[in-house]
Amino acid sequence: MEVITIEGGHPITGEVTVEGAKNSALKLMAATILAPGVSTLTNVPNIADVHVMGKVLKELGAKIVVADEHTLIIDTSAVDRWETPYHLVAQMRASTAVLGPLIGRFGKATVAMPGGCNIGARKIDMHLLGLQALGVEFDMSHGDICATTPHGLTGATVSLDFASGGATENLMMASVRAKGITTIDNAAREPEIVDLANMLNEMGAKVRGAGTPVIEIEGVAELAPVVHEVVGDRIEAGTFIAMAGVCGGPVTVKGFEPAHLGLVLKKYEQMGITIEQGPRQCVIARSVPLRPVDIQTLPFPGFPTDMQAQTMCALALAEGSCVITENVFENRFMFASELSRMGSNIVIEGHHAIVHGVPGFSGAQVKAPDLRGGAALAMAGLVAEGVTTISDIYHIDRGYERFVEKLRSLGAKVSREEQDIPE
Ligand code: UD1
Repeated sequence: MEVITIEGGHPITGEVTVEGAKNSALKLMAATILAPGVSTLTNVPNIADVHVMGKVLKELGAKIVVADEHTLIIDTSAVDRWETPYHLVAQMRASTAVLGPLIGRFGKATVAMPGGCNIGARKIDMHLLGLQALGVEFDMSHGDICATTPHGLTGATVSLDFASGGATENLMMASVRAKGITTIDNAAREPEIVDLANMLNEMGAKVRGAGTPVIEIEGVAELAPVVHEVVGDRIEAGTFIAMAGVCGGPVTVKGFEPAHLGLVLKKYEQMGITIEQGPRQCVIARSVPLRPVDIQTLPFPGFPTDMQAQTMCALALAEGSCVITENVFENRFMFASELSRMGSNIVIEGHHAIVHGVPGFSGAQVKAPDLRGGAALAMAGLVAEGVTTISDIYHIDRGYERFVEKLRSLGAKVSREEQDIPE
């Protein structure tokens, strides 16, 4: 089994550039279905989840040329299938992002129903209710969601119970081809939603208000292929910022928009980390002990759940105690149990984690519980005394490109190796 080993206690300094955002690239790839022809996406991260989305598109009949490591040329003119099988949805839930564009282009889609995952039940009821309001009829059988539009797609007002990113995206991608105007109330406001809206508008769609809680979409008859650059990955940036903050830096993190991490940067400053913001970059350093700060995760512009584990890792080393409240996913504290193997003192009560700072971690054998938890374990390994070995690193590969190489370029003593670890 492949593992990541880290010898703790070495400083990290220098410069690191983040890739395009995973959570944007996946949806933009799906959105190319809407415009028959050849679209080009640049700044696409070379990560496992993007490869799965590539397989989903090919399964539908698209052709993909990898022009260079970060440029995908996607030809969707020959898409003539509408089914996304379970083996792909099971590998990556975001495969369900093709539901909206398939409905938008063909008026029909069959997508395997995603099950729960290791951070929660992650239902898609809001996607389905919203699409129903536009005239989509669903038939659920044998684990598949079959969508049809016997009376066409018609704009409607949809109020989401929760500002779900996935539901907002699927609704946007279907409604760009609906008759009339669709309004999404309580829409997600993440920068990746704005990136998708920008690309849809470049294709000829009329999407207004993305980045605010009310998005209005005026349906159009056709969309044209585009060339579009994926927005920088604020979560990859946040991960390196957290690492630099814990290790002391200085580290310059480049390739993203600091405003997309507004609340994270504010909280990190309260923790005693110095952050110098510049155009598409931040310089991170720390010379005082880490201070405890309460955190609660919320949809954007709230504190991102995707930064919760990395932040918990930092707070577990603060001088004092604080509370982290997870409001987005019901089961996203598994990282805390792994970190306890390295000497942390964290008590979980429902969706609250009471974090009592400890003076240091000790290197141990740990298992990546999920994507961000895996990265946060590597972060703990950087400052732990001794060697940390992380298994199940396929989670990390899902969302971080050249993770080990980037850490090494900052001076970390880290490597990937084959190791026999008993199951
Ligand atoms: C996206 C991101 C993920 C991030 C999350 C929250 C991708 C590929 N993933 O996931 O990295 O952690 O946003 O910022 O972009 N919910 C329902 N019913 C629904 C839809 C959602 O109950 O129909 C619940 C989910 O179970 C979850 C919460 O709403 O508890 C947030 O989900 P959502 O914003 O939809 O997250 P994703 O789009 O799946």
